[in-house]
Amino acid sequence: MEKIVILTGAGISAESGLSTFRDEGGLWAQHRIEDVATPEGFARNPALVQGFYNARRVQAAGVKPNAAHKALARLQRDWPDEVVIVTQNVDSLHEAGGARNVIHMHGTLAGAFCSNCGNRWTAPSEMAVGEPCPSCNQPTARPDVVWFGEMPYHMDEIYAHLASASLFAAIGTSGQVYPAAAFVHEAQAAGARTVEINLEPSVGASGFDTYILGKASETVPHWVGQLLAQHS
Ligand code: OAD
Repeated sequence: MEKIVILTGAGISAESGLSTFRDEGGLWAQHRIEDVATPEGFARNPALVQGFYNARRVQAAGVKPNAAHKALARLQRDWPDEVVIVTQNVDSLHEAGGARNVIHMHGTLAGAFCSNCGNRWTAPSEMAVGEPCPSCNQPTARPDVVWFGEMPYHMDEIYAHLASASLFAAIGTSGQVYPAAAFVHEAQAAGARTVEINLEPSVGASGFDTYILGKASETVPHWVGQLLAQHS
């Protein structure tokens, strides 16, 4: 049996039309992380933060999964063992491409979260400042995304998957944000083979066993085709 754990980042959604963070002209070239992606930034200027995520939510609603998302869904469907997709992305393109049980470690744009009572619900396309929580009625609704300084979601589940992986792949991520950047080492410690699939080698690139460089829409379907051919 060969369980596969896949970590994806913004690069897999780039060809669908969503900006990455650290490429030239990416989101972090246009916005300061401290302003739009920290709890302190939200406390200081909730309108700016809601506006940033409202714009991203509208943008994400208008794009379609690309060949890379669809190929991973095919791998999940046709691989004889478990294929776990862990994403840092807050878009829903894996699901739109047919993937199941995607673990969103940085949350999703589709969700709203109440910082007062912990309630979660489906976010409207535009979240207003001071929007009341439908459960406790406090004006404490926020996007259900993980900000810098907050603990990513589902970490116990992710580490358990990494500990039983035979193959780990990181796709379209620059390897600059922890804890995701260290998953390759967790997987290696568990004896997994590791592969990086990215446009260019990531920051932590020396840690992988193999590299496949190129556009995700081309490299991922090719890689999936090879894996499935080996096991047919
Ligand atoms: P980055 O923007 O840091 O990295 C995107 C990576 O994708 C880069 O290494 C690019 O070379 C690569 N890339 C770009 N286009 C590609 C393509 N067509 N095919 C393949 N690779 C491509 O995005 P992430 O690594 O996802 O967190 O960023 C990680 C986290 O940092 C995000 O989840 C977000 C951000 O700050 C939070 O907001 C908490």
